[in-house]
Amino acid sequence: MCGIVGYIGPRQAVGVLLDGLSKLEYRGYDSAGIAVNTGGAIEVRKNAGMLKVLKGELETQALNGTLGIGHTRWATHGKPNDVNAHPHATEDGQIVIIHNGIIENYLALKESLQARGHKFLSETDSEVLAHLIEEAYSGDLEAAVRTTLRQVRGAYGIVVTHAAHREIVAARTVSPLVMGVGVGEMFLASDVPALLPYTREMVFLHDGDLVVLHEGDYFISDLEGNALTREVTHIDWDAEAAEKGGFETFMLKEIYEQPQALTNTLLGRLVDETGEVELELNLDPGSFKRISIIACGTAFYAGLVGEYLIEQLARIPVEVDVASEYRYRQPLVSPDTLAIVISQSGETIDTLEALREAKKYGAKTLGVINAKGSSMTREVDDTLYIHAGPEIGVASTKAYTSMVGAMLMLALWLGRARGTLDAARGTALLKAARELPRLVEESLSEARVAQIKAVAEKYAHSRDYLFLGRGVNSPTAFEGALKLKEISYIHAEAYAAGEMKHGPIALIDETLPVVVVATDSELLEKTISNIQEVRARGGKVIAIVSDGDTDASRHADDVIRVPRTLELVSPIVNAVALQLLAYFTAEALGRDVDKPRNLAKSVTVE
Ligand code: AGP
Repeated sequence: MCGIVGYIGPRQAVGVLLDGLSKLEYRGYDSAGIAVNTGGAIEVRKNAGMLKVLKGELETQALNGTLGIGHTRWATHGKPNDVNAHPHATEDGQIVIIHNGIIENYLALKESLQARGHKFLSETDSEVLAHLIEEAYSGDLEAAVRTTLRQVRGAYGIVVTHAAHREIVAARTVSPLVMGVGVGEMFLASDVPALLPYTREMVFLHDGDLVVLHEGDYFISDLEGNALTREVTHIDWDAEAAEKGGFETFMLKEIYEQPQALTNTLLGRLVDETGEVELELNLDPGSFKRISIIACGTAFYAGLVGEYLIEQLARIPVEVDVASEYRYRQPLVSPDTLAIVISQSGETIDTLEALREAKKYGAKTLGVINAKGSSMTREVDDTLYIHAGPEIGVASTKAYTSMVGAMLMLALWLGRARGTLDAARGTALLKAARELPRLVEESLSEARVAQIKAVAEKYAHSRDYLFLGRGVNSPTAFEGALKLKEISYIHAEAYAAGEMKHGPIALIDETLPVVVVATDSELLEKTISNIQEVRARGGKVIAIVSDGDTDASRHADDVIRVPRTLELVSPIVNAVALQLLAYFTAEALGRDVDKPRNLAKSVTVE
């Protein structure tokens, strides 16, 4: 989850590196560094702290050179400080490396290197790579990197350069690396936004790939040296799409992008006339008897919504696991299991390893994923892209609603294909799905947003929050609680509303705001009872209700109205209100919404 950038060509490298790193800071930002070949020597500048610290230093101590590498770090081994920041150099300063990932066997390697006289400066696992390459180097940098990578176990996106060679050598396993193909220049990065200002032609490196970059060409091979050909993908995101587009933060921009994101998710996949969904999957809908959904964080909550949708519409048994648990609980998997991994980044290591676990037992696999060319997309049997576009804000918003939209389509597709969902109900649900972009647009009207902002500011200094929801909106409550936690740092818990009387009701007092998702539902009466139970104990109720509601809203202290829709479709509309509640709470508290403390956008280490 670090940010990596590399450049070789006619431009001054520092500008390209800093520009690229600034677009990757969301991947980790506790320290940053660059190395530039200044003509026969490599100069390194690196600091703990945000990228601006490094930028400041480079303004006073310029580096001139047209080949360089850069890194923003999310610490795994070794605290964030200048020494542990990347790049790491060999003792003679001739070779410099940057690394994203975890070298699992680094301790054993480090001890044997130290026993052979190598002196380490940092506490990082990454520095081991520099010393191994130094030991293997005898004039051929590529060969030395190959030899090194055959010794290490774990995850890496590594970029290496040598003072005496005008080339960059890079390789990846698990951690993402994408190459930008320019005219007479080549680029490397962990993610597309860093490259878009310079090129749209991208090569997504695969696990096990090693590449050598020169000004005007590149050579890809495997660790044994066998030449490989990788597709050049034209990325149609404009650079603007990866910038903030006039919004104060990426997160707010992405909240407002949800109508467009949902349009892209649903686009061309809904056949209104027949109530069918066309997903262009190779997957045979009749080829499995049970479904395992595996994901992390927000994606996990999208999976929980998917469970309700698939079981109700397709009548297939579904279990949902957080990936970090699934991997180690010896799950009961067989060839008649469909394992669905849900992931915005497609790189989350827990989910990736859980996918591999499911495949080990012969499960069919499907990815519900946003990031094109990501690792998971290359390991599943099939991918249902959510097409939400780049999501930069660490707190997931548009990816969540697009994931839920994709799960809705999957449930519809399975239900119609397996005959458990008739055309009439299918058509009604498709119509409601077709309405989603407009309903979300309506949710973002100035008046509604202002009202949510007022509620957020009213309770912004609460110590704790409780979120309650029922049925398909129980996961909505959990996702709302997570949003609030991760950007405002306020403790928030979520429960299925019916569970409150089994313990959490002891928490209720006048200091505790309780957000209740009370939109149109067959269970609304029961949810209203829960609201009354909270009010009877002095709790403050913030009710999320459907337009036109006169029941739930009567019993609440504060009411947030959202456009009315079918219950099975409502988690998408309801989530937007909870995203805004979290956003404005965090803003009122002066939090760094795009880069919340301790978090990274893509967790590619365990
Ligand atoms: C979402 O707001 C969080 N930042 C986090 O829980 C995230 O959903 C989780 O890490 C999974 O990421 P993925 O979707 O890229 O796999």
